[in-house]
Amino acid sequence: MHPDSKTMKPFSAGSAAAGRGRRALAFFLHVLALLSVLGLMAPDCRADNCLANGCHGEIKGKPVVHAPVDGDDCLSCHRQVNQQHPSAAGQDFAAAAEGGALCFQCHAQEGFNGRRKHGPSASGACTVCHDPHGSDQQGLLKMPLKELCLDCHQDFAASMEEAAYLHTAIRKLDCGACHLPHSSDQPSLLKGDSINLCFGCHENIKNRYDTSLDKHKALYVRQRCGNCHFAHYSPYPALLVKQGADLCFDCHGQDESGRSDAPANIRAEIEGKEVVHGPVAEGECSACHEVHGSNFAMLLSGPFPRTFYAPYQPDAYDFCFQCHDKELLTAQPVNNQTGFRNGTDNLHFRHVARKQKGRTCLACHSVHASNGQKLINPEGIAFGKWQIPIRFAATETGGGCVPGCHRSLDYDRQTPFDYTKPSAAKQAAETPAAGQNSSPPAAAGDSDALAVEPLDTEQGTP
Ligand code: HEC
Ligand code: HEC
Ligand code: HEC
Ligand code: HEC
Ligand code: HEC
Ligand code: HEC
Ligand code: HEC
Ligand code: HEC
Ligand code: HEC
Ligand code: HEC
Ligand code: HEC
Repeated sequence: MHPDSKTMKPFSAGSAAAGRGRRALAFFLHVLALLSVLGLMAPDCRADNCLANGCHGEIKGKPVVHAPVDGDDCLSCHRQVNQQHPSAAGQDFAAAAEGGALCFQCHAQEGFNGRRKHGPSASGACTVCHDPHGSDQQGLLKMPLKELCLDCHQDFAASMEEAAYLHTAIRKLDCGACHLPHSSDQPSLLKGDSINLCFGCHENIKNRYDTSLDKHKALYVRQRCGNCHFAHYSPYPALLVKQGADLCFDCHGQDESGRSDAPANIRAEIEGKEVVHGPVAEGECSACHEVHGSNFAMLLSGPFPRTFYAPYQPDAYDFCFQCHDKELLTAQPVNNQTGFRNGTDNLHFRHVARKQKGRTCLACHSVHASNGQKLINPEGIAFGKWQIPIRFAATETGGGCVPGCHRSLDYDRQTPFDYTKPSAAKQAAETPAAGQNSSPPAAAGDSDALAVEPLDTEQGTP
């Protein structure tokens, strides 16, 4: 009937005024009591006056206050069902509407009806995440956003805790950088379709994707970025889904000979080979390939002619010289920069550094792996319809080749062969392949030599 002592407290505390005030108050309370007995009026804490008299004052105490609370519009959400309030029984108010409907009295439903709906939001459990009155957090959230999400997604939280690498987007930002809380037309409540979501923050990758001359199909199929990256965390650096070559072998390790556009099976190319190129053996495929796109063919990280012949230019092979000493090709005469020399005569230079019909590295070497020493490719590279084989054997101080290009020839770093003297070596009768344009040791243009050099008589490149 009467306001209890608790609700009275503000009055007594605040009435330091004169007896006039006290008398007025006593009169006021009297009238109130009378009116409520007559059922004409609710007691002091009536619902359109919840904050009067110091009641529920704390409700506005948080840094972020919900607009209707700020406007004392308690009744938009609370319907008074018991005329007496407070009452001993409590439950003087009922919700003005149930679940989400309470909120949708004022908030548009747009944003809640995407094709994928978030469980708690779809079921109208808005107040699991939001405090309807006020909060320390923006968006009236009950906890900081990341904590809020992880509070329910506990498996996720546990795996994330254990993971070695966490996406900087999560570490520095939060879940809301990529996810919508209520619903989305995208799978997994994402803010955008997967690739554009990533591009939103990774402009350098987007530029590469847009402008590269050679594009990697891996970015255009299936889960796109998700083919290789986890979005949240990973046991491996760069959020990769697998480590090293295994990442690539997901696609470049199957036999799909039935399909003409099947990715090349590099696993098969490498497995069981006697010699595997250093970085390939380490699984460092991306040391040579720009996996997000490149301006060089085969996604290579630098220029590299892939024909059999290529006119020599000083920077044409810079791809290989990211890791190897360029002088193995350019030094002439040469000392220790290459093993492919006859004395100080650089046989790399001889073969490659020619304005016309310079042999490319691929004419002799495989790039991933080979059954020949020094990555010499015994099966050879395709020259037109012909696969030019190279039989190569290294010795202590040199080596010998029996290629399809010319007769068997040896070289020796310590005791160079004199290719001009038929009796000087066991390959006396034979002629070096080097020769046409870059002042060969000798014998270039020898008609006998040309006869055994089918490549030099070919016109053009295959
Ligand atoms: C936007 C709707 C909304 C408005 C506006 C609103 N409330 Fe609430 N209130 C709720 C909901 C919903 C609950 C139940 C809380 C829950 O389930 O977590 C609640 C609970 C309460 C409770 C119960 C104790 C508690 O805090 O949980 C009190 C008291 C209360 N409100 C007072 C008020 C007062 C006073 C106002 C006006 C200043 C007000 N409310 C305005 C929605 C609202
Ligand atoms: C009586 C009308 C009304 C009701 C009912 C109502 N809201 Fe609001 N709400 C508002 C207004 C007005 C704003 C401020 C609008 C703005 O800033 O755009 C607001 C803002 C919000 C915000 C943003 C706060 C911020 O600071 O960013 C959230 C979150 C919110 N309401 C959640 C809810 C939830 C949850 C419910 C149901 C429990 C609800 N609202 C019910 C009127 C209402
Ligand atoms: C899983 C937690 C969660 C649930 C459940 C939830 N919300 Fe939210 N809501 C959020 C988050 C997170 C934000 C963004 C807060 C921020 O960053 O400011 C938000 C923002 C809002 C906003 C501010 C405007 C906007 O859309 O960004 C409103 C209004 C809102 N929610 C209403 C609701 C209503 C109504 C429901 C129930 C139908 C609901 N929310 C259920 C987490 C939730
Ligand atoms: C109140 C508990 C709760 C909170 C808080 C919560 N979630 Fe959920 N979430 C769920 C439930 C329940 C599901 C549905 C579970 C399922 O389908 O496996 C779900 C599903 C999801 C999904 C999968 C949706 C899909 O379509 O596959 C994502 C993504 C998600 N939540 C993200 C978030 C983010 C981000 C937050 C923080 C803003 C968050 N959740 C906060 C309970 C919650
Ligand atoms: C950089 C963007 C990004 C951020 C930040 C992000 N997510 Fe995701 N999330 C994704 C993408 C993309 C998917 C869908 C692909 C997948 O399942 O990995 C996803 C899927 C999910 C799923 C559903 C799939 C599953 O694993 O069950 C949940 C749940 C989820 N995220 C929770 C969270 C939580 C919680 C946070 C904050 C700790 C968060 N996400 C932060 C991008 C993000
Ligand atoms: C909200 C911004 C944001 C979004 C969206 C985003 N990232 Fe990130 N990401 C970052 C930031 C910031 C870094 C750290 C700085 C950097 O490397 O650019 C980062 C770093 C990375 C890294 C390097 C590892 C690390 O954590 O430092 C990878 C890989 C990555 N992101 C992949 C993705 C993928 C895949 C997507 C799409 C699912 C994506 N990111 C979406 C902000 C974002
Ligand atoms: C074929 C696998 C593959 C795909 C598909 C892929 N990435 Fe990567 N990504 C990698 C590898 C491997 C690395 C590590 C590169 C390295 O070691 O230098 C990497 C590194 C990154 C990095 C961190 C280093 C950097 O270059 O900034 C980001 C960010 C990144 N990727 C984003 C993306 C985005 C966004 C997509 C989708 C558009 C994507 N990736 C698609 C394999 C891939
Ligand atoms: C999701 C599957 C997938 C993954 C994973 C993948 N690739 Fe690919 N890759 C492809 C497809 C598809 C092609 C195109 C095949 C074709 O059309 O001939 C391709 C082509 C290539 C090409 C030839 C490009 C050209 O210009 O023709 C190279 C080089 C390559 N990938 C390297 C890699 C490397 C290195 C990795 C690991 C970091 C990798 N790929 C991982 C699917 C993948
Ligand atoms: C030392 C540098 C280097 C490394 C390391 C390397 N590659 Fe290559 N890769 C090349 C070169 C050069 C080519 C072009 C060869 C050619 O045209 O015959 C190539 C070609 C390719 C092609 C296209 C083949 C075709 O026939 O279409 C794929 C796919 C490929 N590499 C995948 C890989 C994978 C997977 C790895 C890791 C296991 C890897 N590469 C490691 C240099 C490298
Ligand atoms: C990313 C670095 C890298 C690139 C690029 C690279 N290589 Fe290598 N290469 C290596 C490493 C590491 C070794 C092993 C070094 C050693 O054993 O001394 C090696 C060894 C070799 C060998 C000697 C193999 C043996 O059995 O002794 C040859 C031949 C070779 N590379 C050729 C090439 C050619 C041709 C190219 C250009 C298509 C190239 N490399 C590009 C790193 C690279
Ligand atoms: C005519 C065949 C031939 C051509 C063309 C060729 N190489 Fe070689 N290369 C060899 C032989 C033979 C060896 C082994 C030398 C030895 O150790 O006896 C070798 C060795 C190497 C080595 C190991 C280090 C060294 O120099 O001894 C590297 C690296 C190499 N070549 C890179 C290249 C590059 C890069 C190209 C293209 C610019 C290239 N090769 C072109 C035949 C060739």
